[in-house]
Amino acid sequence: MFRAYVITVSDSSYFEDKKDLSGPLLVNLLTEKGYEVVGREIIPDEKDKIASVLTLLCDEESTDLILTTGGTGFSQRDVTPEATLEVVEKIVPGFGEIMRAKSFEITKNAILSRETAGIRKRTLIINLPGSPKAAEENLSFIIDSIEHGLNILT
Ligand code: MTE
Repeated sequence: MFRAYVITVSDSSYFEDKKDLSGPLLVNLLTEKGYEVVGREIIPDEKDKIASVLTLLCDEESTDLILTTGGTGFSQRDVTPEATLEVVEKIVPGFGEIMRAKSFEITKNAILSRETAGIRKRTLIINLPGSPKAAEENLSFIIDSIEHGLNILT
């Protein structure tokens, strides 16, 4: 059973107590797919903070998959892809490419999502957009490929 961790990157959930709907939704979707979700947290849109949480999780080597949700768009504070690129050793462009292409058929705004993915040690990190609808739709496009990748990686 693969171990997964869900990170909600959101200033409003972190600082203003806005209810995080995407994090729990992703936990449920992963659990339904047979993942063991070993943790979940909410962090603010701060590059150093995001990078240090990702680094710690990857370097502990007890998490196979990290899904982030939020911070992929055009807002001044959106820096999740930059933090991800800072910590990964290998970039995996295919996840972002397919998510944007498939999502573009649903909403033209999908082109604004800068989500990326990559590998650090034996952990795969994948960014998803922030809204529950977008997070669920995007995950549905890649969920089967994630498992195949993890089988090779771990
Ligand atoms: N992708 C899908 N499948 N469905 C959506 O509704 N919303 C988009 C996009 N990707 C959307 C989507 C919108 S409106 C934005 S602004 C970007 O994701 C970035 O979202 P984020 O800044 O919350 O990460």
